[in-house]
Amino acid sequence: MRRQETSTGLHGHEPLELRPATGAHPTRIERSAGRREAGASAPAPQRNAHFGCRLVEGAGGHSKARLRYHYESEDMIKVENLRKTFGPKVAVNNISFNVERGEVLGFLGPNGAGKSTTMRMITGFYPPDAGTIRVGNHDVVEEPIQAKRLIGYLPENAPSYSDMTVRGFLGFAAEVRGLRGHAKRNAVNGVIEMCFLDAVVNQSVDTLSKGYKHRTCLAQSLLHDPEVLILDEPTDGLDPNQKFEVRSLIKRMSEKKAIVFSTHILEEVESVCTRAIIIDRGVIVANGTPEDLKARSNLAGAVTLSVQGANSQAITDKLASLPQVEQTQAISVKDGVIVVRAFPRASEASALALGVAELARAQGWRVNEMRVEEGRLDEVFRRITMPDTVKRAAAGVNA
Ligand SMILES: Nc1ncnc2c1ncn2[C@@H]1O[C@H](COP(=O)(O)OP(=O)(O)O)[C@@H](O)[C@H]1O
Ligand SMILES: [Mg+2]
Repeated sequence: MRRQETSTGLHGHEPLELRPATGAHPTRIERSAGRREAGASAPAPQRNAHFGCRLVEGAGGHSKARLRYHYESEDMIKVENLRKTFGPKVAVNNISFNVERGEVLGFLGPNGAGKSTTMRMITGFYPPDAGTIRVGNHDVVEEPIQAKRLIGYLPENAPSYSDMTVRGFLGFAAEVRGLRGHAKRNAVNGVIEMCFLDAVVNQSVDTLSKGYKHRTCLAQSLLHDPEVLILDEPTDGLDPNQKFEVRSLIKRMSEKKAIVFSTHILEEVESVCTRAIIIDRGVIVANGTPEDLKARSNLAGAVTLSVQGANSQAITDKLASLPQVEQTQAISVKDGVIVVRAFPRASEASALALGVAELARAQGWRVNEMRVEEGRLDEVFRRITMPDTVKRAAAGVNA
């Protein structure tokens, strides 16, 4: 049976469990002295499980100060040879990567590539079939509680307890994280402010718009000021203003944390990420800074020229005669302005712009605009992942 993912990031059969405690007050959390109770091995978290929950082998009692100095390495996440299969399906196939504090790692890939599965393994929701994951020097499988204390997790589709108010839900999540009294109030108020939830704090979660619901779950992931943030499509379903706010929030938080977030929005990668990994069919097919990846674009290094009152053919012919030019392309002709592009020979890329500028001067072209293309992530993404996507579609295999 597939377990339901809870938005607290603290899951089913892991040592930290939420289970109904009959007769308990809705928001009361009991702390057990230690061991898991007999027969408590893998209960599926139930809807309304928060109504009277017991914290078994609690993560409670931790303080931010203690957590802050819990790590030794600046590599906050170390993933080695990670693999996960679902029956015959290989969802994640031997993936390795590290994430340092201060890094924002973008996870890109077509639907079904294995992004969420990788994130679920990092957060301890799925056990890996093979490979290791260390979060802040704790093995996620061997020391799940210590690892999870360091992690804030926004799962895909942002589940939450729909019949609680926003403040009630955040208070509950804060208690699960072991926060009480002032610490709890401060944490809840802090994330309400950070995630712009003031207008809806007393509204029940099921009456929220998708954007607010999503941000409520994002707020939940930030309550304990975690060192590591795993955000599965944090801007999915948000309007442009909300997307901007969430991106700004991620940027603001990035200095002191290691952040991994998945997205389909490539401009988001350019504006927020220090590094991006492209995953396709469970395998890492590219790993680099957005600039590195853009440099792999066919467009990178091409010179685009916009000239007024000229003949398109004459201009492209002249450009093609330059020794630095591999090929030319007429882009558009509109209102007497032609736009053409020259692609460099591999060995001449750095000399192309100067060659084009000198030619334009010598020919007396009225140049409106000239720019060196830095490459486009969407083009790189399509080129790297498209062949497989097309093959899969042609074979009638669903992601
Ligand atoms: N619980 C599951 N049971 C069976 N197959 C799954 C399960 N979770 C994911 N998969 C499959 O694993 C592959 C990777 O899925 P996922 O990690 O969700 O991709 P992404 O997040 O990149 O879209 C897909 O083919 C998906 O159908
Ligand atoms: Mg996903």
